[in-house]
Amino acid sequence: MADGDRTRWNDRWAEAGRGTEHGSSLVDLVEPWLPTVGRLLDVAGGGSRDSLLFARKGLDVTVADVSDVGLIQARQRCLAEDLIISTIEIDLEIESLPAGPWDVITVANYLRRDLFASLVERLAPRGMLAAIIATETNLERNTHPSAPFLVRAGELVELVDGLETIHHSEAWRANGRHEAHLVARRN
Ligand SMILES: C[S@@+](CC[C@H](N)C(=O)[O-])C[C@H]1O[C@@H](n2cnc3c(N)ncnc32)[C@H](O)[C@@H]1O
Repeated sequence: MADGDRTRWNDRWAEAGRGTEHGSSLVDLVEPWLPTVGRLLDVAGGGSRDSLLFARKGLDVTVADVSDVGLIQARQRCLAEDLIISTIEIDLEIESLPAGPWDVITVANYLRRDLFASLVERLAPRGMLAAIIATETNLERNTHPSAPFLVRAGELVELVDGLETIHHSEAWRANGRHEAHLVARRN
């Protein structure tokens, strides 16, 4: 039950405000393989700037997230540049992911291990999945995210069983976090 998630994240996005710089390095990660057209689903993208960066690339972007406040911010930020994105308010703890097929699916800084099988399933043929999740090593320098939201070394690749791995790395990043980065393709 994620009413707690909705309230907590609505508060966080409201506090951050529409001008927030909050976002991940998803666009940089996937850029070398990004199609110039197609449907992209950003899972748990909330009010991050990632959706704007993908919309600027010309993709047909949908953000799925539990926080209506975050989703409004994402839409408004894009509208300010005459870019239109779709948003879906969804509680991923109890609801299914929006039906595909999606040419690109992205997820950053949100970990539900049992979600990955449906992410893979909803990819279009040759579709790509890009994911960024902090690893357990991150706890050496940061107290957040807490352990349940961190992947073990090598775990992210295991979670996308059935996809061809195009890129996988685990390292300390410019944002000060130790993150696993993955780009994988459906064949
Ligand atoms: C750490 S933020 C990550 C935002 C963005 N992906 C990024 O990296 O900048 C986590 C996101 O997960 C969303 N979230 C938390 N619980 C959720 C749930 N049960 N269903 C859907 N989204 C959820 C939050 O609203 C928030 O936008």
